[in-house]
Amino acid sequence: MDIIKTEGLEYAYPDGTQALKGISIAIEKGSKVALVGNNGAGKSTLFLHFNGTLRPTRGMVIIEGKPIKYDSKSLINLRTKVGMVFQDPDDQIFAPTVKQDVAFGPLNLDLPRDEVDRRVKYALKSVGMEAYADKPPHFLSGGQKKRVAIAGVLAMEPEIIVMDEPTSALDPQGSLDIIEILDELNADGKTIIFSTHDIDLAAMWANSICVLNEGKIIKHGTPDQIFADHTMISETGLRLPTFVQTFRELKVRGISGGDSPLTMLNFVESVSKPFDVLKARCTIAGADVCAGENVGLIMKNGTLCTIRVDADLNAKTTAFGRVMHNAKAGEDIVVSEITGTITPKTGEINIVPIPRIIEGGSRAVDLETIRAVIAEHSPHKIGAMGTSAKVVVRKAGIQCDFEVDVIQSSILAALRGLNVMVFATGGMIERVIQKIESNNKHSGQEIKFSSLAIQASL
Ligand SMILES: Nc1ncnc2c1ncn2[C@@H]1O[C@H](COP(=O)(O)OP(=O)(O)O)[C@@H](O)[C@H]1O
Ligand SMILES: [Mg+2]
Repeated sequence: MDIIKTEGLEYAYPDGTQALKGISIAIEKGSKVALVGNNGAGKSTLFLHFNGTLRPTRGMVIIEGKPIKYDSKSLINLRTKVGMVFQDPDDQIFAPTVKQDVAFGPLNLDLPRDEVDRRVKYALKSVGMEAYADKPPHFLSGGQKKRVAIAGVLAMEPEIIVMDEPTSALDPQGSLDIIEILDELNADGKTIIFSTHDIDLAAMWANSICVLNEGKIIKHGTPDQIFADHTMISETGLRLPTFVQTFRELKVRGISGGDSPLTMLNFVESVSKPFDVLKARCTIAGADVCAGENVGLIMKNGTLCTIRVDADLNAKTTAFGRVMHNAKAGEDIVVSEITGTITPKTGEINIVPIPRIIEGGSRAVDLETIRAVIAEHSPHKIGAMGTSAKVVVRKAGIQCDFEVDVIQSSILAALRGLNVMVFATGGMIERVIQKIESNNKHSGQEIKFSSLAIQASL
């Protein structure tokens, strides 16, 4: 179902600037959409139509199948459904304290006081601004104000979240935190739309990307459709994602092959040609290895290792190389004249479901059980997805390897032969499983996975 639709949307500002020139766009419920385009393309103007702040000069905006009505009652209703974070937080924040500002929306919904408090606390925690609850917003930095504005929208728990350049004023960690929150909300069924200049982020995060230029939609499609159109990319002054650029450089040098990758995962797969020289760990125990010796190469626990060709019959070596210098077991060694292909035995991904906030969240989990499950499986890498899962891992004092881009990082590690444990909340569990299954289908390398139910301790 299209949750937002516009038909022939035109808008001229009072000074005559024609900012939108016939925009027809359809946004599917539950999708993650990135809007990209140069300064002045009309991104902010378009967004301001989604919650009725601006009224089209021509055409219309349809939310959940119904055209927007512009009487004040309908608009109040609309804004509980469409939460908007403005590009400039100063347009949004006005209460005397941070806490009051975030509470403003929920209070206007006539929610009970304790529900308002719960939402405000959750929203401020999500954006890492709890410590600033009683501060006046005008003392905050630009990035902090942005976080407060985002908290204000989160506290409304709207069905559709629209954010105008949410990460532009944030530091790298702050941006990743926001993206993680958006992913979690999306896994719970919310539709998320944001504008950004960060092409890498759009490529990594969005299911669909919409390119806007001079008030018109140039193209709306999946990231692969968008980034396959190199002419459009250069004509609109955008750029390709970094991994696509890297791929192209490697391809002309004969190292990468096939079609342009869509993700880091595809990019790694595209490096098909064996390298001439590799660094490997010498695991030949007992005797030293000598320059000129022929060795087998295998991937073991994520590390490329050399083994004796003749002795280690069980290892079923499919790749070989020539040792460049003398070494002892445990030392790194340079190997040349590589033949064959190195196909590691893939690792496993164990998913541990952590209850959502509404199911008791991290409080419903016994930390001893968490430590026990880790001790039992002794994973090489640990990841956490979602607020509850992150809190659990932190409370249990566990060092987490993956906190952002967890699914892709876990699959990449498993493909190198590492065992991964992922703590995940709610709808994110299905996401992990879907992604592993689709990767297994495409790559032909079978990553085993399982869901480990743990005992709740409420
Ligand atoms: N309040 C305004 N009055 C007149 N023109 C405006 C106003 N706001 C934006 N514009 C113009 O409308 C066009 C689209 O602007 P905007 O939607 O802010 O673009 P973007 O968000 O993509 O940078 C630009 O040409 C901009 O100068
Ligand atoms: Mg803008």
